Amino acid sequence: MNKAVRKTVIAGNWKMNKTRPEAKALIEELKPLTAKADCDVVICVPYTNLETALALTEGSNIKVGAENCHWAESGAFTGEISALMLKEMGVQYVIIGHSERRQYFGETDVTVNKRVRAALDAGLTVILCVGELLEQREQGITEEICAMQTKIALAGVTEEELSRIIIAYEPVWAIGTGKTATSEQADEVNGYIRSVVAKLYNNNAAQKLTIQYGGSMNAKNADELLAKEHVDGGLIGGASLKAPDFAAIVAAASK
Ligand code: PGA
Repeated sequence: MNKAVRKTVIAGNWKMNKTRPEAKALIEELKPLTAKADCDVVICVPYTNLETALALTEGSNIKVGAENCHWAESGAFTGEISALMLKEMGVQYVIIGHSERRQYFGETDVTVNKRVRAALDAGLTVILCVGELLEQREQGITEEICAMQTKIALAGVTEEELSRIIIAYEPVWAIGTGKTATSEQADEVNGYIRSVVAKLYNNNAAQKLTIQYGGSMNAKNADELLAKEHVDGGLIGGASLKAPDFAAIVAAASK
């Protein structure tokens, strides 16, 4: 089996950017540019832009995701949004465990697992982020960190549910820094994560799993990263905020 058995997914992660009028303008610009994509195209937007994004992308090939969700269906969790609330709106994807959530909002592997479970139960597709810090890479424990994050996040996830999981390998030192991992580094860690999944489930399930790379992927380096055997798409931050840049990455993934 090879790359052809897997879906290539290019997902934008807008983070805390774009007011509603700005979101509308970006999506309107993006739609014609990505209409001929030969890969899955997702935009993950702030909660306040979900309704706008869903309305504007209706009938197009762009799918909409959120950037996080809580693990409970409802309850006394001021400021949180449940997976069920997202699903009910028509949202299809959700990013879970992004390094910024881990770094600034106390997200742990255990809460990542709880959110993954809740998102799957609600019927969403999860973009699960894993990746090492710079000092962890320097200590030579990139594989250990990625294996641990992957194993804990997938606890209690069945093989059937794995078809609604996308893993995004995002080395934290490459996010928003302009320091992209080399295509060899990305391919090596993505391949390693696939081997971890093969051990947890089986080789067939691992071969079918989409594993993205994220971290300063842009219009210039996308071609080389996406050509690698284990790089099945990208999770794009900064470059997803500019329609021509995001469209260029989508075009690179469509080759
Ligand atoms: P970046 O962000 O493309 O701006 O590095 C990627 C991400 O955080 O998902």
